[in-house]
Amino acid sequence: MEAKLAVLISGNGSNLQAIIDAVAAGSLDAQIAVVVSNRKGAYGLERARRAQIPDRYFPLKPYRDGQRSRAEYDADLATQVSAYAPDWVVLAGWMHILSEQFLGRFPNRVVNLHPALPGQFPGAHAIEDALAAFGRGEIDHTGVMVHLVPDARVDEGPVLAQEAVPIRPGDTHATLADRIHAVEHRLLVETLRQLVGKRTQPATGTGM
Ligand code: GAR
Repeated sequence: MEAKLAVLISGNGSNLQAIIDAVAAGSLDAQIAVVVSNRKGAYGLERARRAQIPDRYFPLKPYRDGQRSRAEYDADLATQVSAYAPDWVVLAGWMHILSEQFLGRFPNRVVNLHPALPGQFPGAHAIEDALAAFGRGEIDHTGVMVHLVPDARVDEGPVLAQEAVPIRPGDTHATLADRIHAVEHRLLVETLRQLVGKRTQPATGTGM
């Protein structure tokens, strides 16, 4: 039986598209059960609709306005996502730190994609940070990683896959981002392919 994925996004959704395409091509034995965005204008929501995947917009703002906590938002988000009974929750450009209130509901089942190598450039500006470090002569490559999300640390956790991406003299944010995204689209799908083959293992431990 195919694995069920919940994909969480905040923006363009090009990695979501890579998953959609792999599923449609039959090269990833999975079904995207739901796409959730915390941003209304995220183009990834449009990609989900085009692929006839259920989509949810779930913003933090009403919680802030109502003096409710991030923990409550995360708990309600978990309830929304768990209604789709996903085997894996995939953070594909999800720009919101998830707390134990969410992660505790999907132990060892949350996977994050990040445009940097392990331990380097966490956060929302990894590509800018890598270019700046390159400019200072500190690095000659950056990379991409896919990792499990065991706790609320940012872009950290047991690494499932990583790949270096060279930085070239003359690279701009756009040229480096293009090269990184091309690697991401492949690496994320390859990693999910491995995970969905292992999903029948117990939910404790990484299963890897
Ligand atoms: C991707 O580069 C992903 O690695 C990054 O957001 C981008 C989303 O692109 N995630 C992070 O920086 C997490 N800290 P997409 O919306 O086109 O898939």
